[in-house]
Formats: sequence, structure tokens, C-alpha cells
Amino acid sequence: MKDMYILGIESSCDETSVSIVKNGREEIATVVSSQIDIHKSYGGVVPEIASRNHVKNITIVLDECLTKAKMTMDDIDAIAVTYGPGLIGSLLIGLEAAKTLAFIHNKPLIPVHHIAGHIYANSLVKEMTYPLLALVVSGGHTDLILMEEEYKFKKLGGTLDDAIGEAYDKVSRVIELPYPGGPKLDKLAHEGTPSYKLPIPLKDDSYNFSFSGLKSAVINLAHNEEQRGREIIKEDLAASFQKVAVTEIINKTRKAIKDFKINNLIVAGGVAANSEVREQVTILCKEEEIEFSFPPIKYCTDNAAMIAAAGYFAYKHGKNADMSLNSKSVDSLK
Ligand code: KG4
Ligand code: ZN
Repeated sequence: MKDMYILGIESSCDETSVSIVKNGREEIATVVSSQIDIHKSYGGVVPEIASRNHVKNITIVLDECLTKAKMTMDDIDAIAVTYGPGLIGSLLIGLEAAKTLAFIHNKPLIPVHHIAGHIYANSLVKEMTYPLLALVVSGGHTDLILMEEEYKFKKLGGTLDDAIGEAYDKVSRVIELPYPGGPKLDKLAHEGTPSYKLPIPLKDDSYNFSFSGLKSAVINLAHNEEQRGREIIKEDLAASFQKVAVTEIINKTRKAIKDFKINNLIVAGGVAANSEVREQVTILCKEEEIEFSFPPIKYCTDNAAMIAAAGYFAYKHGKNADMSLNSKSVDSLK
């Protein structure tokens, strides 16, 4: 088969990103423009501001990516784009850019679900072999997904309330870490000991997760200590939260590995960058004697390389869209 160069576009939250990937495996060039500095002062992403900045950035990021790759649109075989889930205004900017490019240059348009993108970030480092179990941990998702075949997704369970990254960011706010707090809380946790007692999130037999109770327990604990005139030890609170949250992820993943006799685990999403997640998953997979992989840190958080990679496999499996493709803020992975 002829080599296929896919141009991917990602704009579902506060990163404007364009990437070119060859055959779903080899990154040619990627540009990510992050709006973190803009949203930091608000303590989180402001959707309207995010959309406006995507409008400003998208053509610049596209030009930069083509220049970096030393390519023109003539060298591109298809356009892959995140159509959802995410912030609707943000998604629309990337989608309109992709539709315009596909229309003007007469290229196929490939719709990519954001979570399929996170999963296929792994393909940029290792050939993905099936069946596999994907643990997706990000700011918007906490999912266990069984893939019996290439580009076939079966959700075993997911979060019933807050996603793990969301809980990290909210707990970070309580201990006054700037947005996005996840990576900073991760670092702080290494300086403390898990001495605070926090509730185990969801003691059940499902593959679901729940982090809002744990998050509320941290907030209440911080407020109670404050009312008693006692100072919280931020490092210890960070370590305590991280321990309970990651243990929960590991326990549910272990259950799915055993129940479905999994031999291959992949981890994806922004929280896959977490040091404790990486360490505990490594221990788990060694104990269970199964293969595993993580994307490198740069492919864990939102980027278009993962969308271009997923786009290749989506196209191979007949996913093709026309100009009626629309963004979806909420959509299940099929
Ligand atoms: O995948 P992503 O870029 O966006 C979504 O699709 O949601 O993930 C962003 C999330 C944020 O909540 C961020 O705080 C979290 O990933 N994150 C981390 C770490 N690095 C990023 N959380 C914990 N530890 C980290 N090292
Ligand atoms: Zn994401």
C-alpha cells in the first residue's frame, strides 16, 4: 500500500494543534499552541475565550506545521479532525478548518473521536496488537475500553461523575496550585507522605469510577482544618489524594485484566503523564505478566499527532465524512 500522510487537527479544549503523521505510526511534524497562560488567571478553561483563541491560532499553527514538515497540502492524503467530545465552540474551529481544507484540496475528511485519538497516541511509539485493554485517564475521561480488534471499541466502564484529571485540578485549587494543577500536584505528592485518611472512591464490582466523593472529602478536610485554625500540610494532602486516586485506577484495571484475560494494556490521556500512574501500572503489569505501553509525555496531553495517527486507522476501517460533519460536545466512542 502507498504511504499515507494524514494531517490531523485537534481543538477540543484549550490546545490548538496540527500534525502530519505517516501511516498512523511516524510523526513527521507537530505544532501545539497551548492557551494555559491565558486560562491560568481564571483557574480553568473559559470556553468562550478558548474558542476565540482557536480562531486566532488555527491558520498560524497549520502554516507552521507544514513549514516544519517541509510539505505542502499536495503532499497530504487526507485530513483527520477531532469532531468530539469537547467544548463545542472550540471543536467547531478545528472542524471548520478541516472541512475547508478537505473541500479546497479535494481530500478525504476523517472524523476522529477524541478518545480514539488518545488511545492511538500509543501507535506513535509501538505497534498496537489486539486484543488490548485501554485505560484512558484525562481531564474529561476515566474509561476502561476493551479493543478486541483494530479500531473497535467496547467501553467496560467509565466515570460516574468527575474524571480523574478534573479531580486532580479541583484538589489542586484547594491547595492553591495554579491551573492545570495535575502535574504540580503530582510533583508535590513526592515531597509528602499519605498521612491523611481519605475515603475509597467506589467499592463495587463494576469497572466504573467515581472521584467526586474523594474530591469533596479533600475539600471538606481542608475547610475543617482551616476552621480549627490548623494548617494543612499540602504535601501530605497531595500524597494522600494521589495514593487513593491512583490505587482506585489500578484496582479497577486489575479486575478488568483478570476478568477479560488481557495480555496487553495501554494507558492514554493527560493523566497517563502522572508519575504514580506510570509507576503503579508498571508494577501491575509486571505482577500480571502482561505487556503494556504509555505514550511519551508529549503525546499524553492533547495534541494533533494522536488525531492524525487515529485518523489513519479510522480511514482504513471506512470512517469517512462529508461536509455535513458536525461537532458533538458529548459522544460515545464507537
Ligand atoms: O488529555 P488531556 O490533555 O485533556 C483532556 O482530554 O481532558 O488531559 C488534561 C488533564 C488535566 O486535568 C491535567 O491536570 C492532567 O491531565 N494531567 C495530570 C498530569 N499531567 C496532566 N494529572 C496528574 N498528573 C500529571 N502529571
Ligand atoms: Zn484529551
